[in-house]
Amino acid sequence: MKFPAAFQWGTATAAPQIEGGAYEDGKGESIWDRFGRSGKVLGGPNAFTTASDHYHRWAEDVQAIADMGLNTYRFSVAWPRIFPQGRGTVNQKGLDFYRRLIAALRAKGIQPAVTLYHWDLPQALQDHGGWLNRDTAQYFADYAATLFREFGSDVPLWFTLNEPFIATVQGHLMGVHAPGLRRPFSAMQAAHHMLLGHGLAVKAFRQLAPAGAQIGLTNFLWQHEPLTDSPADAAAAWRGDGMISRWYCDPVFKGHYPEEIWRWFSARFMVPKVREGDFDIIAAPTDFLGVQYYSRFIYKSNRWNPMMGFNHMPPTGEVPVTAMGNEVYPDGLYKLLVRLHGDYKVPLIVTENGVAFGDQVTPEGRVHDQGRIAYLQEHIRAVGRAMAAGADVRGYYVWSLMDNVEWHQGTSMRFGLLHVDFDSQQRTWKDSACWLRDFIQGGAELPDA
Ligand code: FCB
Repeated sequence: MKFPAAFQWGTATAAPQIEGGAYEDGKGESIWDRFGRSGKVLGGPNAFTTASDHYHRWAEDVQAIADMGLNTYRFSVAWPRIFPQGRGTVNQKGLDFYRRLIAALRAKGIQPAVTLYHWDLPQALQDHGGWLNRDTAQYFADYAATLFREFGSDVPLWFTLNEPFIATVQGHLMGVHAPGLRRPFSAMQAAHHMLLGHGLAVKAFRQLAPAGAQIGLTNFLWQHEPLTDSPADAAAAWRGDGMISRWYCDPVFKGHYPEEIWRWFSARFMVPKVREGDFDIIAAPTDFLGVQYYSRFIYKSNRWNPMMGFNHMPPTGEVPVTAMGNEVYPDGLYKLLVRLHGDYKVPLIVTENGVAFGDQVTPEGRVHDQGRIAYLQEHIRAVGRAMAAGADVRGYYVWSLMDNVEWHQGTSMRFGLLHVDFDSQQRTWKDSACWLRDFIQGGAELPDA
């Protein structure tokens, strides 16, 4: 199995998870800084204050990416580093940080791929309603426009939103992510405003970015499968897919929410207010879909669950699971990519895929993460199979470059290719990082399974 020479091989991170420097050089408070201090995050109230200290160790981290032979790196910009109050006066030192990072990447031949929003909304905007306030969509586009002006000629690939589904459901419905809200009747309004912000940012991009630069969003796209072959379970899986995947893809690529889910949410008073013209903005043509795949959900119909009408079930039988309790299910990535290609007819980029296991450093200073190597191989093979079946996949990014703060789960979940000792901040190459380097140096060829 061989991949095209132009294929993007990368790794991905997010600012709040790695940077630290949370209150340095004029950065404003983010909703995750605030949420972290609320005591709802494993790893203590200061988990996000230092994180993986990338704000100070970025040069060493860029060197590691280069040493792995990767040709692209997806990172996010912290909105409150650029606009401490979310809008208004720009923080020059924030721009300088990313300018240095982008220059260092380019100097090593690594394509910078920038996410504009990986969940760290400026707290100042949250104080005015955050994503529940429609104005936030325009503030987001203004912030995005600033970055397009500053970095447009040096960054060929942009992502507007990271997984609006998670920001909506974990952040506004379940309350386990920042801003910690539980608002069943308005959560989907937050989602609508995020999508609107996406569309407005795309519009600004077309005016400001050089020809050839690309933009799109990344979505939480897992595979959704029924527990049994009963029609009720099949309907449940399709509904789950609609609520989790299509609700965030169809507006962007088809210009409307999935109708049967709209009816379902409508009967439960959950639909957002949509203004005339919103879908024209949201569906502004984009260049690709970012696919973030980790596992699958299994569905059992349950008519006593009034909100969803289903339960998610654990996998049956002996299957490998990750530290997060998710099934290792590479075949799902194959099925998903083929199906997304058919549904949306856009180029696909696997913008996140990876795994947390309980990695240990040996006394010799090694991390033998054989399980991660197997996970990456199987998922890369699934990508290759999907491409052979006709899916137009342009790249694959390992989540994540280094161990980091896994949101409310703190530093307990290690997803990195680099192991991080959170006391000394020392980085150690895991065996998976060495494997990835050898794989790429060897021409990205995998033996068939
Ligand atoms: C994704 C997030 C990313 C990281 C991985 C494990 O949902 O985009 O920040 O938390 O999961």
